[in-house]
Parts: sequence; C-alpha cells; structure tokens
Amino acid sequence: MNILLLGSGGRESALAWKISQSPDCTNLIIAPGNGGTARYGCNLALKPTDLEAVLEAVKANSIDMVVVGNEDPLVAGITDFLAKEAPEVLVVGPSKEGARLEGSKDFAKQFMEGEGIPTARYRSFTAETLEEGKQFLASLTPPYVLKADGLAAGKGVLILDSLEEAQRELAEMLGGMFGASSATVVIEEFLSGIECSVFVLTDGNGGYRVLPVAKDYKRIFEGDKGPNTGGMGAVTPVAFADDAFMEKVETRIIKPTVEGLRKRSIDYKGFIFLGLINVKGEPMVIEYNVRMGDPETEAVMLRVASDLVPLLAAAAKGDLGDLPLEHDPRAAATVMLVSGGYPGSYPKGKVMSGLDCADGNPDTILFHAGTAVTPEGDTVTSGGRVIAVSSYGKDLSEALSRSYAMVEKVEFEGKTFRRDIGNEFV
Ligand code: AMP
Ligand code: GLY
Repeated sequence: MNILLLGSGGRESALAWKISQSPDCTNLIIAPGNGGTARYGCNLALKPTDLEAVLEAVKANSIDMVVVGNEDPLVAGITDFLAKEAPEVLVVGPSKEGARLEGSKDFAKQFMEGEGIPTARYRSFTAETLEEGKQFLASLTPPYVLKADGLAAGKGVLILDSLEEAQRELAEMLGGMFGASSATVVIEEFLSGIECSVFVLTDGNGGYRVLPVAKDYKRIFEGDKGPNTGGMGAVTPVAFADDAFMEKVETRIIKPTVEGLRKRSIDYKGFIFLGLINVKGEPMVIEYNVRMGDPETEAVMLRVASDLVPLLAAAAKGDLGDLPLEHDPRAAATVMLVSGGYPGSYPKGKVMSGLDCADGNPDTILFHAGTAVTPEGDTVTSGGRVIAVSSYGKDLSEALSRSYAMVEKVEFEGKTFRRDIGNEFV
C-alpha cells in the first residue's frame, strides 16, 4: 500500500516510524515532513492545507491511503474533498463536520451536552451578549476559564484568577483578540484534577479501539509553571488511569461519543483525542481533538504492539472488524528538547549534533519535530519543539532514565528541556 502522511512534527515522525515498520506499507511519503522523517520514507514539500496540492500528490504517487496528522487540513475539509475527487483513496481523519469537535469548542460542548457526556458546565457568548457574559462570570467562583471557540494554535484558553481580568479578557477576545476564532467565547466551570490523554481509533460505524493512555506536560517550566507550550514531554501508561477508571471512560465517554457521531450521521473515520481530567476518580472531558496528540504520540506509538497499517486501513474503510490493537506492556517516556526562548520567540537554524546517538539502540528513538536539513547537509533547528527523545522501559522510571541519558548527547545552542517529566509517577 502506498501511504501519504500529512504533517511535519514529532507526532508525524512517530506515526511514520510505526507505519514504515508494517509489511503492508510499500511506499511512505511524508508531506512536508521534517529533517528526520526521510529515514522512514520520502519527504514531499507541500502544504497539507493546500487541498489541490494534496490531490495532485495522491494521483502522482498512486496513493492508496492518506493519514492526516494535524487538525488544520481536517478543519479545512480535506476528507470531504478527497472523498469527492479521489473516492478510491482511503482517508484516516474525520469529515469537516466531524472536525468541528476540535474546530469549535461551542459545537463540542453542545455535542457533549446532547449525549450526556461528563464535562464542565458552560455558556457561550458573542459580542452581542458581552454584558451577559460579564454577569455570568460574576456568578462563578474563580478561577475563570475562557475559551476561544475556534482554533487558536493552542493559545485560545485563558485561566484567570481575578473577575476584573476575566471580564476584561472576555471583552478583548470578543473584540477580535484571536480574530474570527474568538468571535464566540465559551466560559466554563473550572475543574480541578490531573489530566490524561485518551486516544481512540474509530471506523465511524460504532467500531473503535483504545490506544495506550498518556499524560503530557504542557508548561514550559518544571513544576508545571510558566506559559503553555505544545508539550514538553509525555509518559504512558498513566497510573491513575487503571481498569476501573478506563471502564468509566469507555462507558460514559467513548461509547456515547462514537454513538453520538453515528446518530448525527457525522462521517468520522480516524483518531479521536479525549483530553480528560480525573476529578476525584470521575473522568470528565476537557476537550476533544480530532487527531493524535503531540508529544503523546511520540510515547504512545512505542506501546502500540500491533501493526498499525491494517488498523488504519480498516478504520478508513469503515469496519475495524475484530482486528486487535494490542498494547505493549512496557512503559514509554518522551522528553522534548526545545529551542531557547520557546514558547516565546526563538532562533532557528542552529546546527545540531549527536543526532545518531540512538542509532541501533533498541530502547530509545529520537523523533525529529522542528528540524530541517540545509543544502550543505547539516541538520538544523527549525521550530520551537525540536527533538522528542522517546524510550521504552520495564517501568516509567527506566524509560525516563534512558531518555534523560540520551538528552545529554544531542546538542544545539539554546537546548532547553524539563527535568521533571513523569516525576509524579515514579
Ligand atoms: P484546551 O485547549 O481546551 O485543552 O485547554 C488547555 C488547557 O487548559 C487544558 O489542557 C487544561 O489544562 C486547561 N483547562 C481547560 N479547560 C479547563 C477547565 N474547565 N478546568 C480546568 N482547566 C481547564
Ligand atoms: N498534547 C496536546 C495536544 O496535542 O493538543
């Protein structure tokens, strides 16, 4: 099977690593890919949101299956577009309507309300209802949670302690702080607990498989301090997500989600990412995403023991049947190396060394995230998150120590990472 994987981050490196191991994978093209993905296939320079360019690549390379890594092309309607223009091609990723679970927080909240899925209580406001929004804030207890309705590159959620600040930010958001994305703002109740990420592969017809559960570390500084990033590390498994907790997740969240999509005739064949919070043992949904998580994927793929390609193809065909998705019993831990200054402004083009330190090592993999290869053949930094160092271990403690040992061997000016990934579980 010829497979086209869309995206360029650490998540796509991990998916490419896994897909390329499949006997069913003849050719793998990663578009656009990054400085490390060519080792799993061929990179192809194109913008995944340029739907015509994707179609051209599909035709030129006799692609049988497109796997969409990131949300932007999904929200832009790539699945519907390919279904119309190249109906014989399998696509892993929901329709534009399905992608609204991530593309519109208001839609996601209404969906959850409609299905009785546990989530924070909320109300949505627009510029016309700003005053009501301010009054609603005044009726809540701090902290206040404000969410731009649309995609805002991970920056659309504000959590504020003071009422005055929350009311001011609400006015700014509705006044265009995140452009059209914050024309509607969801205000919701603050939930207190530990978060985890649950990934489900669904065939859109009621069939689904649950992948290993992970936890990511979003803040830039140790001790979960400082601004949010795209993710500084991830671990799997997550101790508190035991069988009893996952049973609740399956009954109260996964089944109603899959069923709710089917009931609404929403075409959804692909990954569902449930951002959950454990509130005193009860799982509640913080958010849906319509793709795998990053950096969770860089840990989770290590623990998918089954061949992923037949599962992806079956999901895209609409029938997972009885194909198993086995979990590797080992643990996995990912530590992200990021550019100095990230998530603020940071330099690019820093020459890197030590990138072969894990070659031939069965326990550690370096997934490239923000790297590029110069015409001279140097690998340089090209993004905020640069390298995901992922390791197996018999337990998290071993996986973490293997990743941290390798972190020391990769060098680039400004290299930054958190030293406390997974600490709470070891
Ligand atoms: P989101 O983009 O919806 O995932 O929100 C980003 C982050 O904000 C989440 O990962 C949580 O850490 C936090 N967050 C979002 N909603 C809530 C909430 N209702 N209560 C507490 N924290 C929240
Ligand atoms: N790690 C969170 C995300 O991918 O959105």
